[in-house]
Amino acid sequence: MTADLVVVGAGFFGLTVAERVASELGLEVLVIDRRNHIGGNAYSERDAETGIEVHKYGAHLFHTSNERVWEYVNRFTTFTDYVHKVYGVHNGEVYSLPINLATINQFFRANLTPDEARSLIQEQAGELAGSDPQNLNDKGIQLIGRPLYEAFIKHYTGKQWQTDPKNLPAGIISRLPVRYNYDNRYFNDTYEGLPTDGYTAWIERMADHPNITVQLSTDFFDESQPLNKKDLVGTVPIIYTGPVDRYFDYAEGELSWRTIDFEQEVLETGDFQGTSVVNYNDAETPFTRIIEPRHFHPERGYQTEKTVIMREFSRFAESGDEPYYPINTADDRQKMLAYRDLAKAESSVLFGGRLGTYKYLDMHMAIGSALTMYDNKIKPHFSDGTPLE
Ligand code: FAD
Ligand code: NA
Repeated sequence: MTADLVVVGAGFFGLTVAERVASELGLEVLVIDRRNHIGGNAYSERDAETGIEVHKYGAHLFHTSNERVWEYVNRFTTFTDYVHKVYGVHNGEVYSLPINLATINQFFRANLTPDEARSLIQEQAGELAGSDPQNLNDKGIQLIGRPLYEAFIKHYTGKQWQTDPKNLPAGIISRLPVRYNYDNRYFNDTYEGLPTDGYTAWIERMADHPNITVQLSTDFFDESQPLNKKDLVGTVPIIYTGPVDRYFDYAEGELSWRTIDFEQEVLETGDFQGTSVVNYNDAETPFTRIIEPRHFHPERGYQTEKTVIMREFSRFAESGDEPYYPINTADDRQKMLAYRDLAKAESSVLFGGRLGTYKYLDMHMAIGSALTMYDNKIKPHFSDGTPLE
């Protein structure tokens, strides 16, 4: 083992650290991942039958207002001018989302001005004014009024959590955005776009450095292979981006996650839904949304009379499932306090990324947080021996 640093996990967090240490410090980095590909959940591949780029672990839209992150990611890829928009089906009609003046006027069959719409929603939200909502259902009604809440939020949220919102804590949402204009851009960030030649090409360029070695299909906890936890910890600094509870053998119990099942299908039509994402806001449709990946890259002009769609079904993760979204119950937060202490005490190992910190991180946040860890802990360690920890 000659590496100066071992990174567990070849997602955006791990590869950002690896790239910085290799390029800026000129040190040797070994990256391992238990999957057979790099990129973590941002990985994408071309569907064999149609050639359409498919995001294997769910649709990934890049957006950021962080100048440093934007400058950094542009070293490895250019971005298209894709602007994300989402539509939703309710009661047999298609609406513009997030809820905006077009949604409101269509829903109430009206021609309201921004001020009129604002007072209507305020009046409807007044149903529970002054009360302290204890569940998500009451909270939703208090935020945007019962009619819009029940049409666009209630069942969608219920499907996401497989739980009636009356039995979900109010704290899951603090606000529900309503726009009193016709702006239906999904993200508010300064920069937005999709990597021109795909996520995998971007990610491969980050890893493409003579000082970086990537070893795939290698599980850090598999003691039958040489790059395992038992043999490595204490011999080399480690950046660990896998699940923090797994690292400590679930000593404080398992953290809870939601996962998504994807049902992928190739259809004999050049265009199934005319846009990349359509939500299904009603209870009777079992999936939450349908992604049609060809619409992420209209500029490619895919030459195929077929299309790929993915239906998404959301549910609680059981052991063995891919952990996607931290549930973050009071119980989870308690466990995380204990895991954070264990992580701090684990010498020469830093925990980062989505799984290592049990936080939902967008790509730009994972990259930004890796750059900060590099600045504050990793670079100082190799330059004269302090931080890491
Ligand atoms: P990951 O990408 O999860 O990488 C961690 C890596 O560690 C994985 O490759 C895993 O295999 C590896 N690993 C785990 N355990 C071990 C082990 N024992 N041994 C070896 N390797 C191990 N972000 C956006 O900005 N826009 C979006 O639209 C968006 N959509 C998303 C949709 C879904 C369904 C999900 C789940 C996430 C989405 N994200 C999105 C978030 C994005 O995926 C994350 O920001 C990004 O993946 C974080 O990178 P990471 O390196 O922290 O984690
Ligand atoms: Na530590």
